Amino acid sequence: MIETMIPDVGDVARWIDEARHLDRRAVLDLLALPRAALFAAADSLRRARMGDDVFLRGIVEFSNICTNDCLYCGIRRSAEPTRRYRMELDEILDVAGRMARWQQKTIVLQSGELASAAEDRRIGEIVRRIKETTDLAVTLSAGNRPRSVYAQWRDCGMDRYLLRFETSDPKLFRYLHPDCTLEERLRCLHDLRSLGVQVGSGFMIGVPGETLGILADNILLCRDLDLDMIGIGPFISHPGTPLASQANAYAEDTAMYFVAMAVLRLVNPDSHIPATTAFDAILPHEGRDLCLQRGANVFMPNNTPGRYRRDYQLYPNKPCVDEDGLQCSQCVAARIWALGRMIGDGPGHSHKTHDL
Ligand code: 5AD
Ligand code: FES
Repeated sequence: MIETMIPDVGDVARWIDEARHLDRRAVLDLLALPRAALFAAADSLRRARMGDDVFLRGIVEFSNICTNDCLYCGIRRSAEPTRRYRMELDEILDVAGRMARWQQKTIVLQSGELASAAEDRRIGEIVRRIKETTDLAVTLSAGNRPRSVYAQWRDCGMDRYLLRFETSDPKLFRYLHPDCTLEERLRCLHDLRSLGVQVGSGFMIGVPGETLGILADNILLCRDLDLDMIGIGPFISHPGTPLASQANAYAEDTAMYFVAMAVLRLVNPDSHIPATTAFDAILPHEGRDLCLQRGANVFMPNNTPGRYRRDYQLYPNKPCVDEDGLQCSQCVAARIWALGRMIGDGPGHSHKTHDL
């Protein structure tokens, strides 16, 4: 009976055991559950396993220079016209220095992917200086790199790394990423884990060509990778990309984005799951709040200085392009409090222990 698969908070231990053994068929059943019950179950499980605190990870989009040409992305190599920028060390340290006052204990440094030894060294230096001058946990998100570069960054103090696998289907992955294979992406995630770095990954919901079976596999791959953090968000077609005319696979039923979020929580009871920005692009002022009520427990306020924000639009209608870090931090706090939740104290490290 499908109903028996809706976890009951009173029986969390049994559900956790069951979640470990779900197969594709079972996840497809979860994706078809009545939505109100599904959302309530995800919210209960989130509360039982992660608590009511919402952890903040302040994101700084420090460079939009990218040598890859991913078909969906607004800062892809061939996207024109894009003013390319790269924030200087002092400017990044300035933002990092303000974050404690905004109750943010983690800085997420994100950029396009640039295979350059000089840039690798520069990123290492940025991490090292942030660790020297603040108490922040540092997450990097700068794409595929050799293990030796990840090791260098870890030695500079990097705590975590974010690298979405985007889709678990190897053919679809290859089509979307002319510069990379799924195998290489998974190799990066494996290298990071083996270095003792906390690993975040995830996928886009509804890329053109995605089926429900692929969505179920995406959710299962997150579980099988035993991820510390899982970021997912709806695919939004960008007019300056080859996918400009392609609709989201769930365009006719946009509640599916939240169904994916809720099932993700059910299958991954102990992972940090952010309410990602793309949800606010499809449902302004509301999307991320709904995520927090349907499985998510992390919010990623945008700390990129205002003057760069228009140049980091991976997809259109990205929120907060006219705001700055202070405005986003105040807005985010108000949104969390309005839900009756609190901002998490402490770094919000992974709850997991991994056998390395
Ligand atoms: N729509 C939705 N998400 C996108 N991303 C990139 N381009 C798009 C888009 N057009 C997501 C990818 C990437 C993350 C940083 O942003 O999943 O990993
Ligand atoms: Fe940026 Fe609300 S989160 S203004």
